Amino acid sequence: MRREFLTGAATLAACSPIPPGAARAVSREGLADHARQSGRYFGAAVKSRLLREDRAYRAAAARECNILVQEYELKRKTAEPKPGRYDFKGADEIIDFAQQHGMRARGHTLVWYTANPTWLEPAVERAGKAEQRRLMTSYIDVAMRRYAGRISEWDVVNETLEPNQGRADGMRAENLWMKAMGEHYIDLAFHRAREVDGDATLFLGDYGLEHDSPRCERRRTAMLKLLDRLLGRGVPIDAIGIQGHLKPYKEPFKQRQFADFLDTLSGYGLKLAITELDIADRGGPPNPEKRDREVAAFGKAFLDVALDNPAVESVLCWGISDQYSWLSNYPEYKWPDGQLSRGLPFDGKMARKPFWDAIAGAFDAAPPVGRRNRA
Ligand code: XIL
Repeated sequence: MRREFLTGAATLAACSPIPPGAARAVSREGLADHARQSGRYFGAAVKSRLLREDRAYRAAAARECNILVQEYELKRKTAEPKPGRYDFKGADEIIDFAQQHGMRARGHTLVWYTANPTWLEPAVERAGKAEQRRLMTSYIDVAMRRYAGRISEWDVVNETLEPNQGRADGMRAENLWMKAMGEHYIDLAFHRAREVDGDATLFLGDYGLEHDSPRCERRRTAMLKLLDRLLGRGVPIDAIGIQGHLKPYKEPFKQRQFADFLDTLSGYGLKLAITELDIADRGGPPNPEKRDREVAAFGKAFLDVALDNPAVESVLCWGISDQYSWLSNYPEYKWPDGQLSRGLPFDGKMARKPFWDAIAGAFDAAPPVGRRNRA
């Protein structure tokens, strides 16, 4: 079967097979059931506090997901607030929940330029070379050992690219690890992660790889060049996490272009996942039902491409319900009038939106994992 990809602006207008988003009765079937049909995983970033305090949220997580990730609990800022003093309470709760429900779990994230405890950057700046390496790898050691066998895949290094910071190679210059070690911090992180848990799938994750825009084009180029260098040096990267924070009202999307990029990545022998999907609706039509339909159509166009790549095994949204979405607080994405963003599969009252149907539909149309529809 050959699937035609829509291109450019046609994407938003042309594919809106989704019925209007009136709240519907929530059945017991979840997106994970749709994902499973083709051997795939659907999941979400969850917060431990919400799993504890909000029954509807907890029920939705249990019903919809067969893979989970922490929204903040394994960021180093939360997990190592003081040097060598760890707090894994929230992460433990999420991993326990995942295990109780027979789900897989991802770990997010071991090495990042941000969300670090305040003590870390000054300590790295003061340290000699060996101590700098220890300051980075100690967290890999402790977190990966703790969850070995329970967290099957890790975002080892997150967001290494930022072509707007003046470096010709497009690497993020404002990054404590880059400043300390140059790009070899990535090599060190992956080698260490492989040593600590040889069974875990090791991810390099980044954003801004999806749209047909000069911004994303520069980021895609920087990613491919980085991979050429890393894989050329034998760095043990297993997979690329495409975050999927989409902004259809700011930048266009071209299915063929994104498909080609994913093909290039999977051509390197890398696994792929969509790790943080959500769709910023700011700038869309004022009528929320119309906006929901457009968001759904856009999500479907995106996922049809992603799920047609045999290397894409899982899709995770960055949250479950609009009520708790970071999109409603983040300066670039939030609505100036304070209304909730509508970029996740469930609305602020935990009702399914057309985006839910779009995700289900994309999974239903997906070829079995490892195969493709497109010629
Ligand atoms: C976000 C969280 O959702 C927010 O609550 C927090 O304030 C900032 O971080 N890319 C990532 C995620 O890898 O960790 C970010 O999560 C969103 C962007």
